[in-house]
Amino acid sequence: MKAAPADFRTPLLVLPLQQGQAPDTGLDAATGGVLSAAIARGDFRGRKDDVLLVAVAGSRIERVVMVGTGKTEEASLERLRRAIGHGVRTAERLRQGAIAVWLDAAMPGGYVPDAGIAASVIVETALVAAWDYRDLKTPKPEDPHTPVEAVTLFVTDTPEDGARRGAGYGATVAGGVNLARGLATRPGNIATPAFLAETAQNIADRWGMRCTVLDRAGITREGLKALLAVAQGSEQEPRFIVLEHRAGGDRPPVVIIGKGVTFDSGGISLKPAERMEEMKYDMSGAAAVLGAMQAFGEMGLRANVIGIVPATENLPSGTAVKPGDVIGSLDGKTIEVVNTDAEGRLILADALAWAKRYEPAAMLDAATLTGAVVIALGHHAIGLMGNDDALVDEVQHTGERAGERCWPLPLWAEYREQIDSPVSDVKNTGGRPAGSITAGWFLREFAGDVPWAHLDVAGTAWRDDAAPYLRKGATGVPTRIFIEWVRARAER
Ligand code: BES
Ligand code: MN
Ligand code: ZN
Repeated sequence: MKAAPADFRTPLLVLPLQQGQAPDTGLDAATGGVLSAAIARGDFRGRKDDVLLVAVAGSRIERVVMVGTGKTEEASLERLRRAIGHGVRTAERLRQGAIAVWLDAAMPGGYVPDAGIAASVIVETALVAAWDYRDLKTPKPEDPHTPVEAVTLFVTDTPEDGARRGAGYGATVAGGVNLARGLATRPGNIATPAFLAETAQNIADRWGMRCTVLDRAGITREGLKALLAVAQGSEQEPRFIVLEHRAGGDRPPVVIIGKGVTFDSGGISLKPAERMEEMKYDMSGAAAVLGAMQAFGEMGLRANVIGIVPATENLPSGTAVKPGDVIGSLDGKTIEVVNTDAEGRLILADALAWAKRYEPAAMLDAATLTGAVVIALGHHAIGLMGNDDALVDEVQHTGERAGERCWPLPLWAEYREQIDSPVSDVKNTGGRPAGSITAGWFLREFAGDVPWAHLDVAGTAWRDDAAPYLRKGATGVPTRIFIEWVRARAER
């Protein structure tokens, strides 16, 4: 809403401020000088993650939460996101369901390219920060939950139109991210392959997309032998899901693919019991594909995008695939299954082979593929690989903008030898050294000549601790990359 500080009305204004930055004089006057007083006393210094809540008497701005974004030269969108996260947490402590942010004050020094982007980042981050999964908890009447549901943006000098569009865009992105988080958070007995297929069908019905779903019989008929091999140990039926958003005329599509292992026990190569319950999020790549597809529908993006989700459990049983088995694949290549716990690459192999039929301009897959990526990059970056340097570079920059950082790992020819098999065309593990890279190389075998990049999100799809704008648990990574990647391509 367009207003001057004296006319702002809100229960809680979130005010990001850099170190040493004085608050706007109009705003300071409208809040009785509490802001400048807090700074003068040294109560608030603007360092990264500094938070000070001040109550305001006799103003339509009832409270201000001042949030530090650190040194001016360190200003970034990520610092702005953190500040909004602190604002939402403050609102939660106060049981306030509404916050406001003054757009003009949130982008000092011009480090945010324009007001639309600022608005989009603020709204997206606030809704992502506010999200919580409570479906399976009985509500406690004595402890009601007051989620932040309303974000008001004040604009003074910046154009209202751009801000409004940006805010709507940000809400759509957040909707996609939060859809993905809900899917990844749901336990394996609820978020089954069939549940992912229903979710896809609902998105298709709502936004006029085409949705194709293959069940076990269909997967068998179509020759998706690698997916079938992983699924053969489960009672729960696998699904192969394809969503098509066609709003880009006759341009070749891009394909996004997500690993949809709804529970990964390791199969016959059983994982240890410790923390095995976390393997319900082994469909985070699939969740991000569905979240992004929903966002494309909602924003009516003028692009051709195909989302592919191979979905199955990975369980041990008398019918399960065994170490040493040699299986086929849609592509025709034979695979020696050395370790049944390296199942993600098997189902992605068939998805990549399927994707090539669309003659896409590029394909991007996401998977919680290897524990090794946590050893390589920790929890701070997605492992990025591909067969096309320009695409890898493009995706890395996309991640930087979207707030989901990626770091490239090399697919040098030397690593390929690690997945040579004595009995088949390729084997599904390359041993301990460079485990993420050999997994990437395995996928590359099935991507063929299509420009392709791969995101290993095993270290970033789930958080063991809370961050300012993300709670513990599912992060929605890499939904924001998928969305930003396709959006930017649609505009070029
Ligand atoms: N889903 C796991 C990878 C994973 C590990 C995701 C930790 C999230 C957190 C994957 O299917 C797997 O089991 N990979 C094996 C591969 C190995 C057998 C070559 C791994 O990383 O140990
Ligand atoms: Mn596994
Ligand atoms: Zn897995």
